[in-house]
Amino acid sequence: MAMQVGRRFALVVVFLMAVRFGEAAQLRPNFYQSSCANVETIVRQAVAKKVSQTFVTIPATLRLFFHDCFVEGCDASVMIFSRKADAEKDAPDNMSLAGDGFDTVIKAKQAVEAQCPGVVSCADILAIAARDVVVLSGGPNFAVELGRRDGLISKASRVAGRLPGPEFNLNLLSSLFRINNLTTYDMITLSGAHSVGFSHCSRFAKRLYSFSSSSQVDPSLNLAYARLLMRACPRNVDATIAVNMDPFTPTIFDNVYYRNLVNGEGLFTSDQVLHTNLLSRPIVRKFAANQTIFFKAFAESMVKLGRVGVKTGKQGEIRRDCTAFN
Ligand code: HEM
Repeated sequence: MAMQVGRRFALVVVFLMAVRFGEAAQLRPNFYQSSCANVETIVRQAVAKKVSQTFVTIPATLRLFFHDCFVEGCDASVMIFSRKADAEKDAPDNMSLAGDGFDTVIKAKQAVEAQCPGVVSCADILAIAARDVVVLSGGPNFAVELGRRDGLISKASRVAGRLPGPEFNLNLLSSLFRINNLTTYDMITLSGAHSVGFSHCSRFAKRLYSFSSSSQVDPSLNLAYARLLMRACPRNVDATIAVNMDPFTPTIFDNVYYRNLVNGEGLFTSDQVLHTNLLSRPIVRKFAANQTIFFKAFAESMVKLGRVGVKTGKQGEIRRDCTAFN
């Protein structure tokens, strides 16, 4: 009996995995070849225009893609606007998503709809835009798999516990990524996105002012860097103040993020732990020493991130307006 239950369980697992990988396998780079051949050019132009207006477009769009994928899968669920403020974007973990990321997708969708109405999903537009901002800031180019459909669920209540926090240790980070079919290697690689963009002081203030009973400052922080952060973020600083996550090349997507970690200049505990922990340290050092290897890994991990929980075929819908269900 126990054997039978075990075998049935194993069959269910195999079936579920087949469904999951089968879905992802339906994504392909040329999905819109016959229905909207120019989609990538249209999105790229809209993204480039938005970037020329404000740099924030770059980190905002990249982070938006990550947050979308980890809650309900890469299905543009994060884009939904709710008058009751109870959609995914209204959850505490998403409150700091910068408006320019949403605006980028909305503008790109409008440009795409003008040429190919009702064909391209908001989820795919977000995936293309996320790749484009990486390229526009000097990062690697790669083919984006397409064919995602837009989700029909967007609830603030379903966000808690699904996104990593800046105080996470390696185990917590790894297990959250594992749930999404991503390895610790993918997690270390994708953390390199912190090469661009900003963080509010509250996300790391504890590391500066109240780390532990024996040490006010987190001992894994480089002291000169800690002083620099203290100047930018004095105690009880205005909640809107944010600092560059990479103090040296904040507008360039590069491997300096990893070199910073080697020097104790990681902004969050979740960044610095990648070098403090001996299990992940060799990978950090490898990326710090060789940007080409990092870029190749980042491109691959972004493609894997883009497969998380996708809806394809007849699932979901193709939204007309990315901020509302049809
Ligand atoms: C590994 C676990 C991760 C943690 C704990 C984490 C946490 C954070 C936090 C706390 C912020 C600052 C938000 C603010 O104060 O406004 C941030 C910003 C950012 N994160 Fe992450 N993140 C992680 C992984 C990722 C991944 C995988 C990506 C993309 C592939 C990403 C992209 C970004 C970007 C681009 C920003 C800057 C946003 C902006 O300037 O608007 N992060 N992250």
